Amino acid sequence: MGCFSVVKREKNSLARLGRLKTRRGEIETPVFMPVGTQASIKSLTPDEVWDLGARIILANTYHLFLRPGHDLIARLGGLHRFMNWSGAILTDSGGFQVYSLAKFRRIEEEGVWFKSHLDGSQHFLSPEQAMAVQASLNSDIHMVLDTCIPYPLGREETKYLTDLTTRWAVRSRKAASRESLVFGIVQGGMYEDLRRKSAREIVSLGFDGYAVGGLSVGEPRQLMLAMLEVSVAELPGDKPVYLMGVGTPEDIIEAVMRGVDMFDCVLPTRNARRGTLFTSEGKIAIKRAHFRDDPRPLDENCSCYTCRNFSRAYLRHLFMARELLAYRLNTIHNLHFYLELMRQIRQAIKEDRLGELRDRFISKGKEETT
Ligand code: GUN
Ligand code: ZN
Repeated sequence: MGCFSVVKREKNSLARLGRLKTRRGEIETPVFMPVGTQASIKSLTPDEVWDLGARIILANTYHLFLRPGHDLIARLGGLHRFMNWSGAILTDSGGFQVYSLAKFRRIEEEGVWFKSHLDGSQHFLSPEQAMAVQASLNSDIHMVLDTCIPYPLGREETKYLTDLTTRWAVRSRKAASRESLVFGIVQGGMYEDLRRKSAREIVSLGFDGYAVGGLSVGEPRQLMLAMLEVSVAELPGDKPVYLMGVGTPEDIIEAVMRGVDMFDCVLPTRNARRGTLFTSEGKIAIKRAHFRDDPRPLDENCSCYTCRNFSRAYLRHLFMARELLAYRLNTIHNLHFYLELMRQIRQAIKEDRLGELRDRFISKGKEETT
């Protein structure tokens, strides 16, 4: 009995509708996981996140390891109880964050040394420790420790880091807790053969699911989609596929059409705090003077709390005045938009109409709405 079952495959693409079974309930896929880096979806309560329809969120091992510490969270009953979230939690391993955030890092066979972005203190993370930290947090899905391959990077260095990721995956697999699901991560940079090799080797270790990592790191979009395709082609058809850190609504639809089931991205939440809002007519920069007297809701077609209750003029005012409510209302809307997009994607798969949905988004995505 696996943790994942495919309910339906779309006729015109590799998209599939699935069910992912976790200790904290069954999740319908394709799914978007809001990012709760520090055990919080910034500015929202867990009840609000739940009411928006999220059933699984992502949290970061790197941040929680440094502050407040995984031992403290374990003493307080684990991450779910600590943050009062009763849905599922996937924790990223810390691999990616060490490379993007730490002040200093040195990769060795054994693991990675790094200096905290908070206070410069020195730490070491090994594949075994990354699994142990996630076991302390008691999250439902654990990610193996991987390396981050920057773009661009030469073939030799990419091969070294990809092979090291495989050796770390072997060690992570052995160290994995039995209660949680564990996902392996495919790397390989922008080299098709290294992607294939990485995927085959990671699959041979037998994980509960497979992530495609190292994408959306600055490469052209077509290259991202090409690397995604070769990676997914090597993955078993009966296991969940997770594309890490992606992306825009258009990227998500394209990735679903290539067989991806799970996504996380800071885009909806971070953009909300910066005043960039997703609507059915394209993106809005709410600070534009243009919206000063605009009595209309953000998005006429949106049923979120923000759009049901407030005007663009009021949202612009809150944002310009840096009122805390701006962050909350904007985040509610953007997360609603992403979670609604996923509901539309699932419905479109049922009806074999994903291509139509994509065409709608591609024409809207480019323009800024007025
Ligand atoms: N988040 C976005 N990309 C990656 C990746 O390649 N690895 C990990 N661990 N997390 C990510
Ligand atoms: Zn809305």
